[in-house]
Amino acid sequence: MTSTFVNIPEKFQIKELVNQSTYLVNGKLMSWNGETSEVYSTISSTEDYKPTLLGSIPTLTKKEALHALEAASEAYGKGQGLWPTMKVTDRVACMEKFVKQMKTKRDEVVKLLMWEIGKNVSDSEKEFDRTVEYIEDTIEEYKQIDRDSAKFVKHAGVYAHIRRGPLGVVLCLGPYNYPLNETFALLIPAIMMGNTTVFKPAKHGVLLLSPLLEAFRNSFPEGVVNILYGRGRTVAAPIMQSGKVDVLALIGNSKSANALQEQHPKQNRLRLVLGLEAKNPAIVLPDADLDLAIEECIAGTLSFNGQRCTALKILYVHEDIVEEFNKCFSARVDALKFANPWDNGAKLTPLPEPDKPAYIQELIDDATEKGAKVINEKGGETTENYIFPAVLFPVNKTMRVFEEEQFGPVIPIVSFKNIEEPLDDMAESNYGQQVSLFGKDVKTLAPLIDTLVNLVCRVNLNSSCQRGPDVYPFTGRKDSAVATLSVHDALRSFSIRTFVASKDNNYNNAILNELLESKASNFVSTDYIL
Ligand code: G3H
Repeated sequence: MTSTFVNIPEKFQIKELVNQSTYLVNGKLMSWNGETSEVYSTISSTEDYKPTLLGSIPTLTKKEALHALEAASEAYGKGQGLWPTMKVTDRVACMEKFVKQMKTKRDEVVKLLMWEIGKNVSDSEKEFDRTVEYIEDTIEEYKQIDRDSAKFVKHAGVYAHIRRGPLGVVLCLGPYNYPLNETFALLIPAIMMGNTTVFKPAKHGVLLLSPLLEAFRNSFPEGVVNILYGRGRTVAAPIMQSGKVDVLALIGNSKSANALQEQHPKQNRLRLVLGLEAKNPAIVLPDADLDLAIEECIAGTLSFNGQRCTALKILYVHEDIVEEFNKCFSARVDALKFANPWDNGAKLTPLPEPDKPAYIQELIDDATEKGAKVINEKGGETTENYIFPAVLFPVNKTMRVFEEEQFGPVIPIVSFKNIEEPLDDMAESNYGQQVSLFGKDVKTLAPLIDTLVNLVCRVNLNSSCQRGPDVYPFTGRKDSAVATLSVHDALRSFSIRTFVASKDNNYNNAILNELLESKASNFVSTDYIL
């Protein structure tokens, strides 16, 4: 196996560095002349392996972080700011302007996605297109939420005009595996609902935001979107310590989420929207269609090298079929092509974290010391930026790979005799996002489904786990998530119900009528947005 592929297609070659020398605060692209950090890809551009320099980003300090926070707080203006009080149609117009400009940057963003995080070309394109669609769907959904609340209700002699209002200042932090899509799945609904934001890109997948900075600046009023670069500890920590953050929106690691929450001096006011670790299992029953189960388990465990929170991270296979499953599954894994993201048919691609192969090797060593074997021929073959997926069998509870979220190319297989075994493990696990269930007999499936829906938040019948389509709820139990994301749910998660109530009498009703007729209030309105 080699990681030093040459022949990079012309349009994907790095000809110019992306030296990001500005950051966005208060509607201005601020020039930065201080310290910068170089951004490297683990993909080599030369035959002798060497990480490729892609550009640089500002290493901002506490001062710039607090400046961005101040801008967001001022734009919120204790709820009196332009953005949180703006008419729904005007906020929609800003978002439409943004998405129109964003669409023109597809090629630049897709190219950087490939270089920065090693995502293959079709998945990188999908990430961009899915994000555009997500924004467009969010606009439509927001209009629908507005239409549904453009009315009065009356109970016990009290009229109520109930809508959803913003929460305040949102600190947004996204993950490296979906640096565009998942970051925007937080940022866009947060902005749409009238919140103001400070956003810091993940450690990897940061330069791909550069082409979009101007679109943010051009589309939203000053202070609504502020974009910072730098280390989380230096930049995000002081923002939390200020106590001025109303929502922490983070998809990533629970260690960072916990550390940031703890810094907030007024924890009860802090709302959380979190997508954290998961250890989604597949359960393959003896009557499962084996070809289908294997196909889906390959996609589930190894799409983007297993670096997805929804990836299948442990496979439970019934003992009656485990031998056959292991044989076919291992052969399918070994047949997957490892190549650079732009190469035809690249299914496995370089890992963006330089220390990931060593970590995966630790998991393999630990499991093999405790009795597991690497059952596929190529499992564990290592290059400078990759470790070929190892299929480990038989795996048991004493092994690290049983418990830890590997977030990379290693596949533990556990065989079971009694269905209670995987169910007990799932009940004991810290995580509760999704499960894949493979089988056919309805009498067996029915009680299992009834249990599994109470252990996780999505049961995928004869298919791998996934977040999409984005209109479906994406969440998790236990340590896997706080709040729910989807086109609709995210708008709810970033807002709160708030309403105007008035007793039904002539005096109040005359005022309400005048409020409606004059259109003087942006909140009290029964207009139907087209
Ligand atoms: O990292 C976790 C992502 O939400 C997974 O999304 O299922 O669309 O790959 P996906």
